[in-house]
Amino acid sequence: MCGIVGVVGNVNATKVLLNGLNRLEYRGYDSAGIYVNSQDGKPCLIKRVGRIKNLEAAVPETLSGTQGIGHTRWATNGEPTVANAHPHVSADGRFYLVHNGVLTNAQALRNEYLADVDFASDTDTEVAVQLVARFVAEGQSVKEALRKVMQLVEGSYAFALADKEDPNTIYVAKNKSPLLIAKGDGFNAVGSDALALLDQTNQFIELHDEELVVLTANSINIESIDGTPRERETYTVDVSEGDGELGAYPFHMLKEIDEQPVVMRRLLSAYAKADGSIDMPSELLDAMKQADRLYFVAAGTSYHASLAAAAIFEKMAQVPVSVNFASEFGYHIPLLSKKPFFIFLTQSGETADIRQVLVQVKKRHLPVLTITNVITSTLAREADYALSLHAGPEIAVASTKAYTAQVATCALLAKALGMHKQVAAAADWNLAHDLSLVATAQQTLVDQKETIHKFAKEMFATTRNAFYIGRGSDYFVSLEAALKLKEISYIQAEGFAAGELKHGTIALIEDGTPVVAVISDPVTADHTRSNATEVEARGGKVLHIVTAALEQKGDELVVPDVNPLLAPLVTIVPGQLLAYYASLDRGYDVDRPRNLAKSVTVE
Ligand code: F6R
Repeated sequence: MCGIVGVVGNVNATKVLLNGLNRLEYRGYDSAGIYVNSQDGKPCLIKRVGRIKNLEAAVPETLSGTQGIGHTRWATNGEPTVANAHPHVSADGRFYLVHNGVLTNAQALRNEYLADVDFASDTDTEVAVQLVARFVAEGQSVKEALRKVMQLVEGSYAFALADKEDPNTIYVAKNKSPLLIAKGDGFNAVGSDALALLDQTNQFIELHDEELVVLTANSINIESIDGTPRERETYTVDVSEGDGELGAYPFHMLKEIDEQPVVMRRLLSAYAKADGSIDMPSELLDAMKQADRLYFVAAGTSYHASLAAAAIFEKMAQVPVSVNFASEFGYHIPLLSKKPFFIFLTQSGETADIRQVLVQVKKRHLPVLTITNVITSTLAREADYALSLHAGPEIAVASTKAYTAQVATCALLAKALGMHKQVAAAADWNLAHDLSLVATAQQTLVDQKETIHKFAKEMFATTRNAFYIGRGSDYFVSLEAALKLKEISYIQAEGFAAGELKHGTIALIEDGTPVVAVISDPVTADHTRSNATEVEARGGKVLHIVTAALEQKGDELVVPDVNPLLAPLVTIVPGQLLAYYASLDRGYDVDRPRNLAKSVTVE
């Protein structure tokens, strides 16, 4: 989703902005722009629709300056056009603003304060920059004008504001949308994501909601919305888990699929001890032990990972679990158990739907754990407890290694909780051994790319629709594999509980309809096979993905056996690769599918 980068100080602002925007590309966007107060004192605003490279091509090589702001936009209000791209400029040409988030009362503010102003765009953002100019024209300082805007607007915002009459300052404000300050040597910067500025510094300062910051080359002054000064320490962002470089790979998604065995081993070294026990914070385990029900709250792929995780918690920690869509839960909270414990499973740690639930849960003073790949993210910071997925930066929009890291991290936590509660099944579980087998099984599958590419051609070359079917955890994997296929190949794909097909959906099966049957669960394997046969009888083309122990003659793709509770970590790998090759063969940009964003910061 939208990305922000801004810088002031002793640097080449153009270079910092363009590097930063390139590093933010993975979030998904449809236009981009920069404002630089150039060395000759002339402000320079350049915006383009489409890829950053279009913007780069339009930026003169000689353009440099010591103050600038840049933005990648994912359209919410107004189409993806140059006029709607950020930065937006006030009608008097003095103020430039980039914005992430949505201002829900923009039209009302425009009617009330700006009826006489000619707008250049259809965006809510332009209202904010025109308001700053209006309040400054009425005699307020820039800081006071921005503060007044913060007080007036409703909704979410991360703002970076530049005043062309003051090339030594950038003004920053935040509410609900993520934003960090980056502290450099002789410069300071702002970014919606640490990754945007990690090539400049690894020292960051978090911002809280409704804070305003005045940044100069050598000072960072943070204030609350009412003007109270706030002190905050810097923290160091660890880049040791890879910096998301592509290396020799054609796409990040392929690289990230390949990294999954390494991530499994990294998780083992982070959480498993030599004696077979699992190292988790004792306060977290104490709090979870009190719980009579775990409530997973998540979205998309992370929701699918939660489904797989729930089965592991129920068996190994003997605790009931409910799995919920964040976008539904926040506004329709069900009757909760007496001692609920919340788990937010989120790759980015910034998902606005989950943040909304966090606000509700905090109001009720209920305990929350965030499990995320970005341990410095908003949801990690604001939860009572946080655990890292240790997957390293995931750049492709379609999540792969974060999904398997989520299921594996939950398995580690479930075992730790089970042992803390003295559940026999957990004590007997040699999880470190089982996860090593998972890593080896994943490696076997990522080494079979040619075979899986062949299946992708046979199944998905021309089809408009497809099905994945399975039961139990194979159903959860079907949901995730179908989502992967939809996201990047634009084939209409459905993940289905195999037994449910005959209750209506089988009507959609016709000659050649591709159906992938996932079979790893010994209890239901025969039933799923029967459902696949029913599909074949109606002309469907079935690809069986089956674990070795359940293999039958004619099965197309056999995957290594692992503990059935961990099977999703293995059976999903062919699903990821099938989606990758379907997208590649159709000529799409695998890493940046249309309409999608990596970090979904709007509700
Ligand atoms: C799909 C995908 C999304 C995310 C969802 C939640 O590949 O990545 O479905 O899983 O937007 O995002 P996080 O996990 O960041 O909360």
